[in-house]
Amino acid sequence: MTSDTRLLCEPADHEAEAPGTPASPLSEVGQTLRTGAGRPSVSWPDMADHCVPHAFSDLDAHSDPSRLVTTLNRLSDDPFFASYKQRLHELLRARPGRRILDAGAGTGEAALRLAGASGAAVTACDLSAVMCREMRRNGLPRVAVADAHHLPFRDRVFDGVLADRVLQHVNDPGKAVTELLRVTRPGGRIVVCDPDTGTQALALEDEDLAEKVLSLRRTKNIRNGTFARTVPGLFADHGLEDIHAEARTLLIRDPESVDGTMGIRDWAGAFADRGYLGRAEADRFNALLDKAIGNDRFLYAVTYFLTAATVPGNPGGSTL
Ligand SMILES: C[S@@+](CC[C@H](N)C(=O)[O-])C[C@H]1O[C@@H](n2cnc3c(N)ncnc32)[C@H](O)[C@@H]1O
Repeated sequence: MTSDTRLLCEPADHEAEAPGTPASPLSEVGQTLRTGAGRPSVSWPDMADHCVPHAFSDLDAHSDPSRLVTTLNRLSDDPFFASYKQRLHELLRARPGRRILDAGAGTGEAALRLAGASGAAVTACDLSAVMCREMRRNGLPRVAVADAHHLPFRDRVFDGVLADRVLQHVNDPGKAVTELLRVTRPGGRIVVCDPDTGTQALALEDEDLAEKVLSLRRTKNIRNGTFARTVPGLFADHGLEDIHAEARTLLIRDPESVDGTMGIRDWAGAFADRGYLGRAEADRFNALLDKAIGNDRFLYAVTYFLTAATVPGNPGGSTL
């Protein structure tokens, strides 16, 4: 933990320690967690109903976490991601002198961009020591390894908090939101974004098979796949003000994204490995993907919900 970060923290040591590892390609959304040889297997006591855990739920347990760093770097260059992230930053209303927390910041690229564009002091944290190491390598000055359910920061210390594509992966997204609000000062901003797996569409010749795989993805893979649609209501329950929600749809036609970004080809195989899908069905799914790509008929879409709000109260008369 850096000295600046310590100023914001309870006295606990959250220093990241992780070995540097070479990068290689992988998908953001498609990759499921695999425990590599020599690693203890990971237990998922809270995931009885989510038996194909997603890599981003416990990135450091992945057999090659550095591959996920590559995935996030690749996504940050994608125009869809760059555009909605820009919008998240607008919704945060960051500016010089403000303290902003990016929770589950991944490689820290977006946090760096936010700091550079707004002049705000951005603190970044992530459950993953590997990601925190990457953030430091990228030059972020305030970094902490921290679980969004138990943030090592004092109450009301931030002017704005952001969680981008994080709450879909955590054990208890409601608790994580409560924790994010705890560290946000009255008058401060909270901004969250996640895709909603209930909005997925996939054009495949066999519609039933496509629906089966998408449904498994919703119910067995992403922990909180439809949490995003509930965030405005959750914010209302917390008594937040100026609640604002927007939708952005990611639409993929580019065959390279099937493997390179989305990893769609991994989905059916992972469900077959766990017995949710027959092996023949998984093979057929992948064959139909190839066919759709070959015929220029491939289409996958999913909608992201961006939600922002203001914490009630405005001590000191300042406005964000
Ligand atoms: C899809 S990535 C998004 C990273 C970054 N927000 C971005 O937009 O590029 C999800 C991140 O959430 C982190 N994460 C997952 N569970 C978390 C938790 N309980 N607390 C903090 N971070 C968590 C993962 O380690 C991963 O870096």
